[in-house]
Amino acid sequence: MCGIIGYVGTRRAAPLLLEGLRRLEYRGYDSAGMATLEGKLWVRKDAGKLEEIERKLGLSSLPGRTGIGHVRWATHGSPSRRNAHPHLDDSGEVAVVHNGIIENYLELRRVLERKGHRFVSETDTEVIPHLISHFLRRGEGLERSVERAVGELKGSLAVAVLYAREPEKLVGVRRSSPLLVGKGNGESFLASDIPALLPFTRRVVPLQEEEMVVLTPSSFSLRHLPSGRAVARKPMEVKWTAEMAEKGGYPHFTLKEILEQPWAVGETLRGAGEEAEKLSRFLLRAEHLYFVGCGTSYHAAVVGKYLLAKLAGLQVEAVVASEFSESCGGDGRTAVLAITQSGETADVLRAVRHLRSLGGRVACLTNVVGSSVTRESQLVCYIRAGPEVSVVATKTFTSQVAYLLLLSLRLGEESGRLDRTEKKELLSSLLASPGLMERALRSSLTRTKALARKMLEEEHLYLVGRGLGYPVAMEGALKVKEISYLHAEALAGGELKHGTLALLEKGTPVIAVAVPGESKGRLMSNLEEMRARGARMIAVAEERDREVREHADLLLPVPRTGEFLSPLTFILPLQLLAYHLSVGRKLDPDRPRSLAKSVTVE
Ligand code: AGP
Repeated sequence: MCGIIGYVGTRRAAPLLLEGLRRLEYRGYDSAGMATLEGKLWVRKDAGKLEEIERKLGLSSLPGRTGIGHVRWATHGSPSRRNAHPHLDDSGEVAVVHNGIIENYLELRRVLERKGHRFVSETDTEVIPHLISHFLRRGEGLERSVERAVGELKGSLAVAVLYAREPEKLVGVRRSSPLLVGKGNGESFLASDIPALLPFTRRVVPLQEEEMVVLTPSSFSLRHLPSGRAVARKPMEVKWTAEMAEKGGYPHFTLKEILEQPWAVGETLRGAGEEAEKLSRFLLRAEHLYFVGCGTSYHAAVVGKYLLAKLAGLQVEAVVASEFSESCGGDGRTAVLAITQSGETADVLRAVRHLRSLGGRVACLTNVVGSSVTRESQLVCYIRAGPEVSVVATKTFTSQVAYLLLLSLRLGEESGRLDRTEKKELLSSLLASPGLMERALRSSLTRTKALARKMLEEEHLYLVGRGLGYPVAMEGALKVKEISYLHAEALAGGELKHGTLALLEKGTPVIAVAVPGESKGRLMSNLEEMRARGARMIAVAEERDREVREHADLLLPVPRTGEFLSPLTFILPLQLLAYHLSVGRKLDPDRPRSLAKSVTVE
């Protein structure tokens, strides 16, 4: 996720762009930049926080009445000056800011390089100004060149384009990444999100999929690119406060991030491509495999362990990072995949260094480009879920799981466990999973709120699962503990009778994570054992799962995904329940007591 802004009007653009970027910083804060137009393109950009860059380079003193700006959350290429946006073509006449991921940038870059274009960054974005300039050189106009360039691009994008020869014009396009027009008097804006527009105007026009907009100071015209149709859309009046707007209109970042999971998983799957393939080769070369992580990332590691066993017949040990050096050895035949959202968790870094000291190899799966773990790893993979502001990890969990699913499918095919058709079918279900997650979220919002209301006074909650339902239960319990302070304990269904059953009394709430698959029948027997002790059974299950319905007092249904994809949807009602419990108990889910987003001490 990145933030983009554009301005064309009668005032000096740069101070307005800076003000807008300040309000978009929650979308990315590892680098920033601006380009304005006066006679020629003026560009200033660097790695670092927006305010530091402003102090160092004076972004706001750039001249001109037209300009674009960007705050970056790196996905391709580490945070650095040359990777920061805006990106330019060879002639220095076309400047582009971009939010999204270009999947086919490597192919396009090779083609353009053969035609003589010189690239200076490691980003996927840089192909865009070069492509536009390629069509401009062929004599096409600006709008047509942007349209043709976008036609070549696969992936997600929201772009703003500035062209030195047309100083009173700004072009924007939206595909899968948000983009809005803001209309003022004699001035027009483009932005990724409403907060950036609020200091200047409340009259907003959201772009729809595959739409292009051409802005001048006095007008804006929209066109649907595939059909070529002009689109008439009137501005709507936004009534948000600035704080509400920063959270996308949601009361908390936690809720915003829970609800943006379908988007985040889509980005993860779009961006993984060649990288996931490299990771599968990396892991296959090892004789002993470990997935290490802490908290939520550890739970994703356990999901990964189950997936690799089930889909590829591969044995992986999932280890809590802080215990790795105590319990695991290694040598040149050992490989670790370090799973860490922040890439800064001290326990993970220690585990990784421990294995390296023994001669083992390290790959990482992280969300933060250039983070410490990337410097300790021979292979670096990214989930590309966008910045996660809330202390509790939500969207990064499902993105980690989606990445591990993709990896397991590749390894499954490689190992011969999955034949071509099976892999293809699972892959197409995985690619369609954001739609199912969307449905699961929609149907769970009110159900979990009602359930939370009944549970506000509870002191203990148990979550049970078998198979892939077990790590999902662990993650659900962690969410409940972190933000609602209700004691929640997760168990593998089979372990109940070995002790915890003794704690269940009449009315004790228990949530069964009843994922489909071979182990579900045995979980149903566990449900009966618990019901016989008076437990109140709540179950997360696939809609229309009659068997679970018979054994539970209350059902939280999710759409049918089949066993392997189930962690992506089954966790959603649990996250929402934790959120509603937190709010219902008058707590602030964004700021859980005693916890930090990134734990940099051992
Ligand atoms: C998750 O909700 C927690 N805040 C925490 O357990 C977190 O997952 C853990 O600290 C690991 O962080 P990392 O993924 O950045 O390494």
